[in-house]
Amino acid sequence: MAISESFDVIVIGGGPGGYICAIRAAQLGMKVACVEKRATLGGTCLNVGCIPSKALLQSSEEFFHATHALADHGVLVDGVKLDLARMQARKEEVVSANVKGVEFLFKKNKVVWVKGTARISAPGQVDVDGTSYTAKHIVIATGSESVPLPGVAVDERKIISSTGGLELAAVPKHLLVIGGGYIGLELGSVWRRLGAEVTVVEFLERIVPAMDGEVARHFQRALTKQGIKFRLGTKVTAARGGDDGVTLILEPAKGGVAEEMRADIVLVAIGRRPYTQGLGLAEVGVALDTRGCVQTDAHYATNIPGIHALGDAIAGPMLAHKAGEEGVALAEILAGQAGHVNYGVIPGVVYTAPEMASIGQTEEELKESGVAYNVGKFPFTANGRARAMGAMEGFVKILADAKTDKILGAHIIGPDAGTLIAELATAMEFGASAEDVARICHAHPTLNEAVKEAALAVADRALHI
Ligand code: FAD
Ligand code: NAI
Repeated sequence: MAISESFDVIVIGGGPGGYICAIRAAQLGMKVACVEKRATLGGTCLNVGCIPSKALLQSSEEFFHATHALADHGVLVDGVKLDLARMQARKEEVVSANVKGVEFLFKKNKVVWVKGTARISAPGQVDVDGTSYTAKHIVIATGSESVPLPGVAVDERKIISSTGGLELAAVPKHLLVIGGGYIGLELGSVWRRLGAEVTVVEFLERIVPAMDGEVARHFQRALTKQGIKFRLGTKVTAARGGDDGVTLILEPAKGGVAEEMRADIVLVAIGRRPYTQGLGLAEVGVALDTRGCVQTDAHYATNIPGIHALGDAIAGPMLAHKAGEEGVALAEILAGQAGHVNYGVIPGVVYTAPEMASIGQTEEELKESGVAYNVGKFPFTANGRARAMGAMEGFVKILADAKTDKILGAHIIGPDAGTLIAELATAMEFGASAEDVARICHAHPTLNEAVKEAALAVADRALHI
């Protein structure tokens, strides 16, 4: 195959890992191409992940407020109706504006978008639908896909993945969600707020397994109050879809008596796995780990010189901001700089109401590693702004080293938790102690005062409780 063009860097995949890496590499003076097979840039995140799910979470929360919360504020609205077609159209508009934004950024930074499916034919060479390109550096940023569940075949009609869960044209009567993680709880919340009966079937005895246990238990209680039903310690062993819905077989996770359950729609959300299909990795000799992640060293280099990888395709949390940080770090490493990601300080946020946000270590992790720690907690019921907003569910929890007072972890359930956690991310990046945060003057009345009070509570000196 004749070589059509040569680049310094070819990034395969235009998601938040790939497109950010491409832009940063171009900023640093490299000649960059990004191969994306989707019709639009932005990857899973902008097209079928973070952005459309947040658009629907926002719209469904507006609907819920109009039907359940506004009267309490003295705002009386009669005859509130759901226009799901408009809600979905708005979501598409939000997605479209975002993906066009990435295309604009590529043009601005002179990143060439090669449209098509890439295959690495040799180190330094990428074939895209019959055309060959060479590059000094190849970056695998091909992302991830949903993990399939044996016996529960996704048809994106009655048995759906998150992609189908973002596109329903009618509110299901009964939505059964398999998996009590990020996707199950976010999309479960969307459809619950719009009127669906929602049952979450979770294999483990708890939801959101990677999060702090105390916060997760509070989270489950809050979602239960909203009408979401949970079947913990339960597995789905089979599901059969017909025109009138789906029949499922549920069993205790540890084994036992099976039972039948009916649902209109079943959402399978039991995790995601790296997507590297058709890339030619086996032929070129790029090593994968046992979970199918591309193996990389601390500099995102694979075992084959000149081939690098990042984002959902490698190990670590499958989060857009983690992928993006790796994109920047790798571009800087390729430019001879010292790119670096602090994996100890990557926030995770579940964008439900209340929101749940977590950073650093959980109480369970600290106990397991034998680190002595102090806990400071402060509830939103004692925060004036939360009370004024009518959003008092939840609390801030800060975990600090018992000897040095250094913040080791922070966990928030409550209003705008995802935004509040950024203050603690900043503090942790600067190696702050709980006292450092406690002595910062926080504006009144703000939700952030709950963060300050939790920091004070680490030394048993919270003021407003
Ligand atoms: P991706 O975004 O998956 O991008 C990979 C791209 O590579 C894709 O566009 C794909 O088409 C392309 N590609 C693959 N193979 C080839 C090939 N051979 N040739 C050309 N192109 C190829 N994370 C958050 O941080 N916050 C959230 O709120 C959030 N919400 C989510 C909601 C849902 C429903 C889902 C499914 C995920 C969500 N995530 C969220 C996770 C987030 O989407 C991913 O962590 C992120 O997209 C990973 O970025 P990436 O660049 O590694 O891969
Ligand atoms: P997840 O890993 O968050 O949760 C999967 C859940 O399914 C876990 O609780 C797990 O114990 C459970 N499970 C596994 N096998 C099961 C089985 N056979 N039966 C019942 N339960 C089972 O995965 P999810 O929700 O699919 O999301 C994938 C990833 O996408 C997330 O881990 C996250 O990285 C990313 N994401 C991030 C979001 C955010 O940042 N707000 C939103 C949505 C997705």
